[in-house]
Parts: sequence; structure tokens; C-alpha cells
Amino acid sequence: MKVFTESLFTLPEVELADDFLSYPALVVGIFEGKVSDSEFLQKIKAKKKVDIIKALQRRNFTGKEKQVFSFDLSEEQKVIFVGLGREDAQEWEKKENIRRASGNGVVLARDSGYEEVCLCGFEGYEREALEAAFLGLYRFKKYKISDSEEDGDEKTDDEKLEKEVKKIFIYTQRKKDEVKNIIDFTRVICEAQNFARDIVNEPGNVINPLTLSEIASALAEKYGLGCEIFDIEEIKKMGMGGVIAVGQGSSIPPKVVHIWWKPSGKPKDKIAFIGKAITFDSGGLSLKPQNSMVTMKLDKAGACAVLGAMKSIAILKPQVEVHGLFAACENMPSGTAQRPDDIIKIFDGKTVEVINTDAEGRLTLADMLAFAGRLGVSKIVDLATLTGACMVALGEFTAGLMGNSEKFNEFIFKLARDLGEKVWILPLDKDLEEKLKSDFAFIKNVGDGYGGAITAAIFLSKFVPKGVEWAHLDIAGPAFLNKKLGYFTAKGGTGFGVRTLVELTRKIENGEY
Ligand code: BES
Ligand code: ZN
Ligand code: ZN
Repeated sequence: MKVFTESLFTLPEVELADDFLSYPALVVGIFEGKVSDSEFLQKIKAKKKVDIIKALQRRNFTGKEKQVFSFDLSEEQKVIFVGLGREDAQEWEKKENIRRASGNGVVLARDSGYEEVCLCGFEGYEREALEAAFLGLYRFKKYKISDSEEDGDEKTDDEKLEKEVKKIFIYTQRKKDEVKNIIDFTRVICEAQNFARDIVNEPGNVINPLTLSEIASALAEKYGLGCEIFDIEEIKKMGMGGVIAVGQGSSIPPKVVHIWWKPSGKPKDKIAFIGKAITFDSGGLSLKPQNSMVTMKLDKAGACAVLGAMKSIAILKPQVEVHGLFAACENMPSGTAQRPDDIIKIFDGKTVEVINTDAEGRLTLADMLAFAGRLGVSKIVDLATLTGACMVALGEFTAGLMGNSEKFNEFIFKLARDLGEKVWILPLDKDLEEKLKSDFAFIKNVGDGYGGAITAAIFLSKFVPKGVEWAHLDIAGPAFLNKKLGYFTAKGGTGFGVRTLVELTRKIENGEY
């Protein structure tokens, strides 16, 4: 594999628009009930001599969320009206309505063959409108071969529609410098999120513990991050029994990756981000059924989000020391694989009875949490595609959030919600702890089937270093989509968590947490 440090998907250029009516495709956002007051509609009516307001009313377009109305002003010019929902909706809800509207509009413009799109009517929400465009236009086309290419035919009309949007213009009254900063900032984060998506989408025969560690070291090298990678000999010496056990069934040995950002000067705080990095989860000897194994390349999504966040952080250079940690393992069944009944010892000396080798993520995360205790961090956030149970509890689009600090939980919940990353707090119910009692070891690695997302988090909590604020995001659902959701029009990896981690770092830098 050629090691990559950027998303293969090139983001469109963004410029400030002057005369919005001069662009070939317009995406115009309109709040609910605001059709007749929209300045854009008035201008279109005046300049293009079409009664666009009447046309919208005839089609029952009121600006409600999800409404889309596409109108050809001429053969070369299309306007796509998108409903932004209620202007007085709650701020987080409004932002997500705006993202979805912008994303749908831009993707529709692309699929109608336009390479340049102008965004209007997103005043004050330029960040959200651009985020949705950058993330919405993303596709993972690396291995796609279209039918006509294969046959050597000319391109069909359909494939001409596979055009990409090359340039986005944004029309806003906001100060130029301010918009420029928003554009640059949003671009950095969305590129990093799309980079994370690329890695998630790469299959297990391409991304394995070795290649994933190579990506991390190339990223660190390119963006000036510190980086240390431990191989199996060092992992054994350090006594990371969880990593050893999970990795031992694969012919490709595990790697522990530690990358970090240290600002010059005294950091405001020191934090760690830990990601689950199972490059493929077959279940091990507790083999998954055929259908559950498909998509298990997604099981490295936590680590991919950490890599995306570290990339953004290297560019944004906050006054916060940030450590990124993951143990890359491939969970495979073989003659050398760990067995149910095995008893292993985690980095901090605690013993675990392995009941089910498919509950592998928590074993590797236990080592990483304990190891983070050495780094002198005050906070840890881990992200893991940890349990199917979390999807049963919350549906496939919401991450479970559990932690040892109510304040930290609440803070992350609100922050993530504002960014369109849905999370919901689940309780670390003390009464469920006994499910993890082992007859032979300190703890066993699975409970009894009820409250699986919570018992997994309770397991992790036992390895969190003393005095550290810790939050765990179970991203099993939202890390990977099997169907389109909002502006995530491409199936597969979503890069869930990148925005929340970066924003959390910025809030900590600003003393907001
Ligand atoms: N990687 C899976 C969790 C998962 C399932 C992520 C579906 C995304 C979609 C994890 O390692 C796993 O297999 N968990 C088991 C835990 C069980 C054995 C206690 C599960 O959820 O079934
Ligand atoms: Zn598993
Ligand atoms: Zn797993």
C-alpha cells in the first residue's frame, strides 16, 4: 500500500461570491415561512424576470427542513432552493438543519453536472454550510471501475454526472477576514475528517496493524507531530497483555502507536485521545457469524478519528498538549489465537479472564488507558466501535457516551450535539458491575447480554488512571453508515468524532472547560 496522509478526495476551492446571480448553479437556503422576504428571491425576480416566488408557492415550498426545489433559470443556470427549517429552532437543531440543506443542495448541483456552485442564504452559518458541502461531496472511488471504462466504451451520460464540484462560492455579508478564517478552519477539519473516512473505508487487506502504524508515522513526520511506535517485542516487554492476546491470532503482529502534539510554551492542559484500532474484527475463535463479519473493517474507526483529530491539531496548533494513542491489532482465529478461558494481564497488572474473544476492543483499550497514566494527562477521551449493544440501545446514528465525570459528559454531549455528532449519555450503573465478576481473575471481559454497551464501559473504567477525567464514546453505530444519512451521502466511514475531538481541544485551550 502507498502510505497516504491526505484524503484522496480533493475538496473544492472556496471563494467569496460577489454577484451571486452570475454563477451557473445556486444553492439558496430559505428559512421556513420566509419565501416572500428572501432578498435572493426578490433579486432573482427583478433581474431574471421570472416570478420565482409564485413558482415556489405553487410547488408548496415553504422553507421547511428537507424541502428542495430545483429550478432552471436558463439552460445554463440552475437554482436549488433548500429549506432551512424554523429560524427560531434551537441553535444545535438549526445548525444541523442548515448542514443538511446545504449538503443536499450542493450534492444535487453536482449530480446535475455543475462544477461550480454558489451558496446563498447561509448568513451567520457559513461554517455549517461549508462543512456539509465538504463532507457531503466526499466519495471513496479508489477501487470503483465504471462499466463503460471496463468495456472501453465512451462515457455514458450517467458517468458524466460523476463530475466533481471544483469550486464553491459563498455569498455573505460577513467581514471578509472572518469568512476567510472560517473557510480555512472548516477546510482543515473536514479534510482531516475525510482522511479518517478514507482509512476506515480501506479494507483489511490494505490496512493492517503495520500499514496503519505507517500512516500514523508518515502523518507525524509530515505535520510535525511526535511519534513513537512500539513493535511486538516492546509490547511484550511493557506487559501489554491485552494487545498481545488480541493480536496473536494474526500473521501480522500488533503495533502500539503514540503520536503527540506539544505546543511551544506551557500548555494549558494535557489530554489524551485513545482510539480502538482493530483493523479487522473476525471475532477471533469466538468467530462472528458470516453476516456480522461484513463491514468489520470499520473496527479501526476510533483510531482513524484520532488520526484525523491529530492531523487537524497539528495544523491548528492549540496551546494544549494532546496525545493520540492506539493499539493496532487484527482479531483473527488461528492456531496461535487467544482462547476463551485464557487469563491475561493488562499493562497495570490487573488480570482479565477472556470469556469471549469477540469482546477484544476492551482488552486493547485497557492497555492504552493504563498506559496513558504515564503521560500525566488530566483528561482522556476514548472512541471505540465497541458494542453492537450500543446500536440496539440508541439506534445506529447515535454514539453512547459514558464516563467518570458528569460534568465532562455533559460538556461533551452539548459540544458534539452542536457539531451534528449525535451522542447520548448512558449511565455507568453500579448494579451492573457484578456481571463482570470473574471466578479466576480480577475481571472477565463480558457480561450477560443485558446492558452490553454499559458493561463494556464499566470494564474500561477499571483501567482508567486515578484522578483522570475520562469519557468513552461507543461509536459502533455512527462511525459507519450502510445508507445515506443527511449530508453523509457516501456509504461507509463517516469520520465520526473528529470534529468533537478538535472542538474539545479548542474549548480546553480557551478555558471553556
Ligand atoms: N467490533 C465489535 C462491535 C461492533 C458490532 C461494532 C457491530 C460495529 C458494529 C466488537 O468487537 C464486538 O464484537 N462486540 C461484541 C461484544 C460481545 C461479545 C459482548 C458485540 O457487540 O456483539
Ligand atoms: Zn469483536
Ligand atoms: Zn471489535
